[in-house]
Amino acid sequence: MASGPIVLVLGGGAREHAIVRALERSPQRPRIVCAPGNAGIAREVGVVTSLDPCDPEAVCAFAREHRAELVVVGPEAPLVAGVADALSAAGIPCFGPGREGARLEGSKAFCKEVMLAAGVPTAAYSVVTEPEAGLAAIERYPVVIKADGLAAGKGVIIAADETQARAALEDLLVAHRFGTEQVVVEEHLQGEELSLLALCDGETALPLASAQDYKRIFDGDEGPNTGGMGSYSPVPGVGDERARAICAAVHQPVLEELARRGIPFHGVLYAGLMMAPDGGFGVLEFNVRFGDPETQAILPRLRSDLLALLQSATQPGGLADAAAHGLEWDPRSAVTVVLASAGYPESSRSGDRISGLDGLDGQVEVTHAGTADDDSGSIVTAGGRVLSVTALGTDAAAARAAAYAGAERIEFDGRQMRSDIALRAT
Ligand SMILES: Nc1ncnc2c1ncn2[C@@H]1O[C@H](COP(=O)(O)OP(=O)(O)O)[C@@H](O)[C@H]1O
Ligand SMILES: [Mg+2]
Repeated sequence: MASGPIVLVLGGGAREHAIVRALERSPQRPRIVCAPGNAGIAREVGVVTSLDPCDPEAVCAFAREHRAELVVVGPEAPLVAGVADALSAAGIPCFGPGREGARLEGSKAFCKEVMLAAGVPTAAYSVVTEPEAGLAAIERYPVVIKADGLAAGKGVIIAADETQARAALEDLLVAHRFGTEQVVVEEHLQGEELSLLALCDGETALPLASAQDYKRIFDGDEGPNTGGMGSYSPVPGVGDERARAICAAVHQPVLEELARRGIPFHGVLYAGLMMAPDGGFGVLEFNVRFGDPETQAILPRLRSDLLALLQSATQPGGLADAAAHGLEWDPRSAVTVVLASAGYPESSRSGDRISGLDGLDGQVEVTHAGTADDDSGSIVTAGGRVLSVTALGTDAAAARAAAYAGAERIEFDGRQMRSDIALRAT
C-alpha cells in the first residue's frame, strides 16, 4: 500500500494520466487523488469528479480536508483562475504558477513584453487595438495575428495577404470573437517547431527532454487545429546539452524577469520555439503548464523521481541540486499517437464502445482523456481526444512502429488518428 505524501492532481486528460503514472513510479509511494480525473485514471488512483479544479475555494478546502502535501495543476484554466494563489495563501505547496505568472499564457501581449524585457529571441511585433493600426504595422506577408487571450488554440491566424489580415483583424477587434481588446501582429518565422519544457522553482529553470507535437487533425499538417494529435521525444539534434543551452537563453531569463517583477514562478514554463535551419531560434509563445500531448511522450522517459522534483519546485531555489546534477532519462525514444473520436475537432461523438485496451504489448502505455464507463461496464468515448498511445523504442522508428501497432489494436467507431506522427524523426 502507498503510504507516502498525499498528492492532489488537478485535471482529467491524458496529460494528467501521464503525470499520475509518473508520480506513482516515485519511491516515496505517494497517495494520489485526481480531480476530476477520467475513466482510465479512476482505474489506478482515487478520483473526485465533483471537485471543480477551477474553483480556488473548493480546491483549498478539499486539499486541507484531505491533508494534501502537494497539489499538481495540469491545465492552465485553474492557474488563470487563481488556484495556485489560493493554495499558497493557505500554506499548501502547489506545483503551478499564480495568476500573475499564468498571464504569460493568458495574454500574448504580456508574454511578448516579458520576452522583450528579458532579452529572449522572438519575432518582431506590435500590439494594436484597431484594424487600421494593425494593417499599418504589417511589413510583409505572411504575417501572424494573435488574439490576446486564451482562445483554445483558435486565436492565431497566419494571414497570406492584406485581405486575410483585414478579415482577421476585424474578426478579433470589431466582432470581438474571443472577447479580446487587443491583438499581437508579429513577424512570421520559418523553421521547425520545438517544445521545450522546464521545471521552475522561482529561481532556477531545469529543462526536460525536448519534444515535438502535431496540432493539425490530418496527415501532412493539414486541416484545422486540435488539442494535439501526437508527439515524440527527444527531437533529433536537441539532446540534453542543446536543451540546456536553449533553456539558459530562454527560460532562465524569463524566470529572472518575472522574479524582478515580484512574480515567483513555480511550475512548468513551456516554450514553443521555431528552430531556423541556420540554428537560430525564436520563441513563439509560452505556456505555464505541462504540454498535452508532449507530456505523454516525455514523462515515460524520465528516470528521476518526478514527485521529488515537483516538491522541490514549490520551494524557492529548491531545484538547484537537481539542476547541478541534471535529470536522468531513458535513452530510448518515445512516440505518442492520439486517438480522437468521430467529428473531432468540430465536435466529438460520445458513447462509442472502445475495444482492444486489454492485452496490449507491455511496452505500450495507454493514457485516457475523453473516456467514460457505460452502464454495462465497457469503456466508451466521451470527448474529442479519447486516448494517447505511447511506446518506447531504441530509436524513433522503433518507437513509432510500436506505438502504431498498439494504436491499431484499439478500435471504436469513427476513430481518427494521424499516420505520420514522428515520421520526420525517423
Ligand atoms: N511568429 C510565428 N511565425 C510562424 N508561425 C507562428 C508564429 N506564431 C505562431 N505560429 C504558428 O501558430 C501556432 C499557434 O501559435 P501559438 O503562439 O503557439 O498560439 P496558441 O498555441 O495559443 O494557439 C504555432 O504553433 C505556430 O505553428
Ligand atoms: Mg501553441
